[in-house]
Amino acid sequence: MENIKLSIDKAYGFVSKENVASYKTQVAAANAALHNASGKGSDFLGWLNLPSSIDDAHLTDIENTAKILRDNCEVVVVIGIGGSYLGSKAVIDALSSSFDWLETDRKSPITIFAGQNIGEDYLYELQELLKTKKFGIISISKSGTTTEPALAFRLLKTQLEEQQGKASAKELIVAITDKSRGALRTLATQEGYKTFIIEDSIGGRFSVLSPVGLLPIAVAGFDIRQLVAGGAEMETVCGLETAFEENPAAQYAAVRNELYKNGKGIEILVNFHPKMHFFGEWWKQLYGESEGKDNVGIFPAAVDFTADLHSMGQWIQEGERTIFETVITINESNYTKIFPTSEDNLDGLNFLAGKRVDEVNKMAQLGTMIAHVDGGVPNLKVEIPRLNEYYLGQLIYFFEKACGISGYILGVNPFDQPGVEAYKKNMFALLEKPGFEAETKAIKARI
Ligand code: PA5
Repeated sequence: MENIKLSIDKAYGFVSKENVASYKTQVAAANAALHNASGKGSDFLGWLNLPSSIDDAHLTDIENTAKILRDNCEVVVVIGIGGSYLGSKAVIDALSSSFDWLETDRKSPITIFAGQNIGEDYLYELQELLKTKKFGIISISKSGTTTEPALAFRLLKTQLEEQQGKASAKELIVAITDKSRGALRTLATQEGYKTFIIEDSIGGRFSVLSPVGLLPIAVAGFDIRQLVAGGAEMETVCGLETAFEENPAAQYAAVRNELYKNGKGIEILVNFHPKMHFFGEWWKQLYGESEGKDNVGIFPAAVDFTADLHSMGQWIQEGERTIFETVITINESNYTKIFPTSEDNLDGLNFLAGKRVDEVNKMAQLGTMIAHVDGGVPNLKVEIPRLNEYYLGQLIYFFEKACGISGYILGVNPFDQPGVEAYKKNMFALLEKPGFEAETKAIKARI
């Protein structure tokens, strides 16, 4: 089987091949530091061997739990924020029909996400919708104390109990959390929910190939074994045994650090397929939270082309030259759509007649790449053979591994996120949470 492929040659007009190659030793050291757990944040490396180490019984447990929700629910609400939702959202969106929620002959429940915002209208509208639906809940929080998902869970748990009765409701709630700590664990134990553990060593943004991502993905009807198999393949390809020149994670980490050193402080992840929008959101969190600290780090942005060529395209073509692009390209579409001939050709599009829509998309992609490189934007390309579970698994692991290596080259701890606490502290102080009395006094004096 083919693998995903990274091409970095369109960066070489902006950074030299020799300079990128000069990262070889540093990259090898970073990769080794991950594997022998000698680098920063080494308590959080559980993701590293996750695809190859997941055992069959664990996958079966996830599949069986998914089946209960699939058999009994029209809607499954996945509650979580950040790493506790973006991975499954990315995979489910990438693999689902673009018009999934309108499908009448459904084989899987509709998956809806909550707890990723505190929008009152969002939660009100969700609860109104659920009034007439048989629904279940997957509540995901490693800490078990994050406010946004906890708030959504209290609302939806209460609603489910009112609609189903407490005894039936508990059969339709699954909690994914720490093995012993946090309010969600206490609650799950007390209520007797089915639970899955998030290992201490797996941080949220690296957790998609754990139950955090796998259970919602299985509920949505996708093959989690293929996803894990793709991850496992990349585990080998990006491993210590692979030479620098052949290792896509090593190459990507090297070239993006060299670009950063040369003033390219913004990386834009580009897709040409609307289903990949949330993959960009997942990637933004992975790189933003892992590298943006100690006053350094590439700013990760994402765009959906060709839509955003008509909005952000101008800036990318001619704005400040501090950007580079990483384009995810899908070699083969899952369906074929041939452009028809028109006798009168009133729209002047007969030059496209007989071509696949994907050919037009590919030419848009090629034309964009040439234009952007001409305009001073280095271009990296990640090709995936087609959009399926296996290649998404590859893509996920490739980006995770490259992120670990890249963070170490940058000199940061890619596995912590101390900066996320600042807003929480202020919010709790403003909401007068018990225990925050001094902070409440201090912040109120400032406003
Ligand atoms: O990557 C991370 O660690 C974060 O994005 C967390 O996943 C996010 O803050 C949610 O935390 P928790 O799962 O503890 O509710």
